Amino acid sequence: MLTANGSFPGPTIEAYRGDTIYVNVHNQGTYGVTIHWHGVKQPRNPWSDGPENVTQCPIQPGRNFTYEVILSDEEGTLWWHAHSDWTRATVHGAIIIKPAQGATYPFPAPDAEETIVLASWFKGDVMAILGQVALGAGNPGTSNAYTINGQPGDLYPCSMENTTRIRVDSGKTYLFRIINAVMNEDQFFGIAGHKITVVGQDAAYIKPFTTDYIMITPGQTMDVLVRADQTPSQYYIASTPFSDLGPFDNTTTTAILQYRGNYTTPSTIPSPTLPAFNDSAASARFVSQLRSLVTKDHPINVPRRINQHVYVTVSLNFLPCPPNQICLPNGFRLSASMNNVSFQFPRIDVLDAYYSNINGVFDRDFPSRPPNFFNFTDQNMTGVSMVTATGTKAKLLNYGDAVEVVFQGTNFVGAINHPLHIHGYSFYLVGTGTGNFNNVTDPRSFNLVDPPHINTVAVPKNGWAAVRFYATNPGVWFIHCHLERHATWGMDTVFIVRNGKTRATRFMLLDGLVLCMGEGNTYHYD
Ligand code: C2O
Ligand code: CU
Repeated sequence: MLTANGSFPGPTIEAYRGDTIYVNVHNQGTYGVTIHWHGVKQPRNPWSDGPENVTQCPIQPGRNFTYEVILSDEEGTLWWHAHSDWTRATVHGAIIIKPAQGATYPFPAPDAEETIVLASWFKGDVMAILGQVALGAGNPGTSNAYTINGQPGDLYPCSMENTTRIRVDSGKTYLFRIINAVMNEDQFFGIAGHKITVVGQDAAYIKPFTTDYIMITPGQTMDVLVRADQTPSQYYIASTPFSDLGPFDNTTTTAILQYRGNYTTPSTIPSPTLPAFNDSAASARFVSQLRSLVTKDHPINVPRRINQHVYVTVSLNFLPCPPNQICLPNGFRLSASMNNVSFQFPRIDVLDAYYSNINGVFDRDFPSRPPNFFNFTDQNMTGVSMVTATGTKAKLLNYGDAVEVVFQGTNFVGAINHPLHIHGYSFYLVGTGTGNFNNVTDPRSFNLVDPPHINTVAVPKNGWAAVRFYATNPGVWFIHCHLERHATWGMDTVFIVRNGKTRATRFMLLDGLVLCMGEGNTYHYD
């Protein structure tokens, strides 16, 4: 497996709010790779954002590249991951952003902190698995196990002696920084016998609330407080999938919360009770409690008057099977789209094409609405063409636009939660609901008071999510589903935010040569 500095998960980056971090990446692997700083806004610095063939070409084997990672208002936990084909499965790690020196957390200081990285384990080369998934023959790229800090835990037959143990002292309070680096599924997460107090999401603070479980989608991070207030013993920490289309890997991974001190080790370690894999109500209940903290030190800035309405359907679709391949029995392969355009990765990255005026790489006509309106969430889709168009299309936004994006889930080929991620921004989640978005009645119940400020939103199955932000970060920014198979199938697009009055975007820090023009190893799906 490809790893960063030989570890899985990779090294943690620790920083203070507002720091700039330089990361030298030397590719000693056998295929091209890039790194993305998930949730770091990178003001005016898309050059270091990382998605391959969108803001740079892959760093080729034997080459290196220096990333300049510019923190601004992020505070809490984020993560970094490879953003090249499926390499993020094994190449990822935490980014811990402490309050600026001299500042404090907006909650009582914890006694200690721990990072918990949830991930997927594949028996096999992820690049080979990707090859099958890209063909869209129905193979969802099922993982063989989930992991907590690199270990699958006691419930899998392989490695009990290595189960991750988080050691705590009775009476102390811990800040757990939880990252969902899983490839293809949302997760429910809990700790037997212990309450969880959620205090942060996607490196922004939220109003503390206490719960028995959290739901965290791939891409998201959550900061929670846990008090070691139970009888000193051992308790399972567990993570299990939430996937209301049907679980692809319906297994549970565990770690152990282990009190220090002398006690008899229990013969059965208690497990948390987590919602069932298809419990959409449990997911919605949890999500509805996430509200921005909103204090003088942590204010919010939600656009009230919108001048750019973008309505994006996120769908699973069909495309014709490539010649001489075996796909689905109906002669099609699975694909995915936004506004019925399945994204094709270009051979020259969009960023360089845009700023260097290279024509023919991408089109600027990503639609602001789907081509046809009908009942997207109908349980019975007969008569609707489920075949998508393909293209490399970007949506241009003006500097300072007050943008609202409504992501609308559909039931074209199947309905499932989609974790939608926008690069270069955090956005306010002002509303979410089931069924089709109604642009007259639904905005009446938007939360403009304390919506969470996040970078990845769980768009509910057969439902919608509305997000708002000011387009004040010029650059080329990728938008995609963070279920890796959906991103592979084309549930992606690009927002290009024009420069304002201030000078053009920074120049790339080049360290060594980055090859481009068809030298990458990106799968081209057509
Ligand atoms: Cu977690 Cu495009 O990223
Ligand atoms: Cu998706």
